[in-house]
Amino acid sequence: MGPVLPPTADNLDRAAAVLRAGGLVGLPTETVYGLAGDGLDAAAIARIYAAKERPRFNPLILHVAPVSLEDLVAGGLVDAARLSTAARASARALVALWPGPLTIVLPRGPAVPDLTAAGLDTIALRAPDHPVAQALIARSGPVAAPSANRSGRISPTCAADVAAELGDAVDCILDGGPCTVGLESTVVHITDDGHGVVLRPGTWDADHLTGVTGVPIHPGTDRPDAPRSPGTTSRHYAPRTPFFALPARAVDLDLTTWIGPHPTGLLCWTEAHAAETRARYPGLSASALDPDGHPARTAQRLYAGLRALDARGFDTLLCDPFPPPELGDTGLLHALRDRMRRATVPFPG
Ligand code: TXA
Ligand code: MG
Repeated sequence: MGPVLPPTADNLDRAAAVLRAGGLVGLPTETVYGLAGDGLDAAAIARIYAAKERPRFNPLILHVAPVSLEDLVAGGLVDAARLSTAARASARALVALWPGPLTIVLPRGPAVPDLTAAGLDTIALRAPDHPVAQALIARSGPVAAPSANRSGRISPTCAADVAAELGDAVDCILDGGPCTVGLESTVVHITDDGHGVVLRPGTWDADHLTGVTGVPIHPGTDRPDAPRSPGTTSRHYAPRTPFFALPARAVDLDLTTWIGPHPTGLLCWTEAHAAETRARYPGLSASALDPDGHPARTAQRLYAGLRALDARGFDTLLCDPFPPPELGDTGLLHALRDRMRRATVPFPG
């Protein structure tokens, strides 16, 4: 088991040496923890795929310092010749938003190994907004880092979760505290005509990105003809316990016969909902991630909360509509719904 290290200067040097030697480091970012390897070293990348049991068709995100588009091109990470004038202007505007929970898909440059991009001619790039990630990248150069979970499982949002998921596969884990965002970055692909298309929703949604950059961005995942991200398969982020999404709040359904004698957990949006549901179904263990259902706090606690529920030995987990439809559809709520859709299966009752 690789040690969990506080991010002192010495330990950052040690982690950078691990990366230079082709090893793997558990890396904190503001979104989720990553499983980091030298992004330009194909052998290290192969270790990442093996550790995660990740299919080789699913490309990795290359994490960089918050530099300009020109620097990415100069470093051989992005191929400027395959960017149209319109795409180049849009890319420059989006790159200027870094650091942050935004991954930008651009034409892959010559320095990036095939395996990092799973053979695609594009590369996904992100500059994380976390001092530990930035300090490591400053020492090591670009790191490829998928979320530090086994493929399909729940992403880790603290160092202990990385140790539980992949402790044997990493040479060390840098402890940067709990992640502040808690959901993976928004992935945006830039098309030749200079539009952005969201391939994976995150906390920075299309409206926000358009508002701050002027680049037209489509919330692409709802369009059937949208370009796909190889990793956004439907089953993902899932607990091991069977986890069912209810079509309406449990209190508004008749679940009496369905719940039966088996230990069943229910995830609610607020503690008030949970208390109301417990009063109706004494056999149901209902809880909320944030007492008030505050969206950002709920997102921050989501993955740790799912892990905790998974560990409690329930036969079945249920979930109220999450977030509740009456809250509308801001970027964060949309991203939360996306993750819950992938973590659950529809209720069969
Ligand atoms: O917040 C995050 O993005 C975290 C932290 C660690 O930075 N990383 C993360 O990586 O979520 P991962 O590997 O779990 O998810 C990367 C997603 C996958 O859905 C993958 O298919 C997509 O990005 N992706 C990567 N390269 C791509 C490309 N060239 N074109 C389209 N999608 C790509
Ligand atoms: Mg992942």
